Amino acid sequence: MPGPPFQSFVECCRRRVTPETCPNARLVGSNIPIYSGPHLAPFLEDSSRISRLLNEWNRLLGEGPGVFVIEHAFERLDVIHQMTKCFEAIIAREKMAGTSRGDHFGDNERIWNSFQKSSIQSPHLFVDYYGNRLIALACRAWLGPHYQLTAQVNNVKPGSDAQSPHRDYHLGFQSNEVIGSFPESAQTMSQHLTLQGAVAHSDMPVESGPTRLLPFSQRFAAGYRHFRDPAFSDYFEAHAVQLPLSKGDLLFFNPALFHAAGSNRSANDRMANLLQISSAFGRAMESLDRLAMITAVYPELIRRHQAETLPEALLETSATALADGYAFPTNLDSDPPIDGNAPRTQRSYLLQAVRENWPWPHLQKTLSELARRRCA
Ligand SMILES: [Fe+2]
Repeated sequence: MPGPPFQSFVECCRRRVTPETCPNARLVGSNIPIYSGPHLAPFLEDSSRISRLLNEWNRLLGEGPGVFVIEHAFERLDVIHQMTKCFEAIIAREKMAGTSRGDHFGDNERIWNSFQKSSIQSPHLFVDYYGNRLIALACRAWLGPHYQLTAQVNNVKPGSDAQSPHRDYHLGFQSNEVIGSFPESAQTMSQHLTLQGAVAHSDMPVESGPTRLLPFSQRFAAGYRHFRDPAFSDYFEAHAVQLPLSKGDLLFFNPALFHAAGSNRSANDRMANLLQISSAFGRAMESLDRLAMITAVYPELIRRHQAETLPEALLETSATALADGYAFPTNLDSDPPIDGNAPRTQRSYLLQAVRENWPWPHLQKTLSELARRRCA
């Protein structure tokens, strides 16, 4: 008979979303707030509405259901179509080169670090896709500024099995023994270091197996130590919800939420670009060659800036995606604080360079010197 931890888990998961906690959602479906991209568009021009939305999403991800959806999050759906083609080209190239790794289920296709690879494959598309302000706001809502994006593409073939319920990075990837070696306060804290997201690249009816989710399960403090226990998995199987998604929809959830990809019983592939976004204070799961990314995308930013087709918000969002916006760790002997504040960052140099139309060799030299100054 399951004991008290299971009972308190069930109490967490019995909660229901109330409309007062998500006043800007279009509706609540399956206990998950669902927002509409077109409805949120006017919010983006109003700083007080932005801050209300940031608070709303922060509470939903923390004490609320731990998950929300934004439908039709891309103003131009062709950006999704083109990025899908870009991913398909990367998958084909990696298959040809014999470097594709697949994933743990059958012949599914996977692109690790699709984030960096897409920036180099298609810089203009990278700006349109990761310049998406709704993605940026969701990241800020949970992690604050200077978050670190990473992304992995997952293309799940018909007939693929479901995953077991789990929590995600950091501690969701560790054994029970390792998890238990961290105090519960650190286990709970770790959920604040990451935000999970997904961009739907195909329509995902329920039979194609969009992620099954257990709203409010992130609130259960001991969840990292119990998500593999049969009583908890059985409860998940009985109570998890699944929302159909359409191409261009976004899903965001707390990494401590119990979840699992569903089985694909449809006749079509299910493709998502999985976003894993880290706090500036945390360590991301994948390493990035940011200099290679900036080298690829800088000419595109300059081209748009000179053509006056680079609004300030798009520049800021693109710079956050591309460049490290946090000043630490550094070497304070060679990279001292300026006027008692934090040293300058890669991101601040990139912004200055675009605004002042620096030639690439000048920015390249500046960033190389910064990298040298930050070395121990
Ligand atoms: Fe997961």
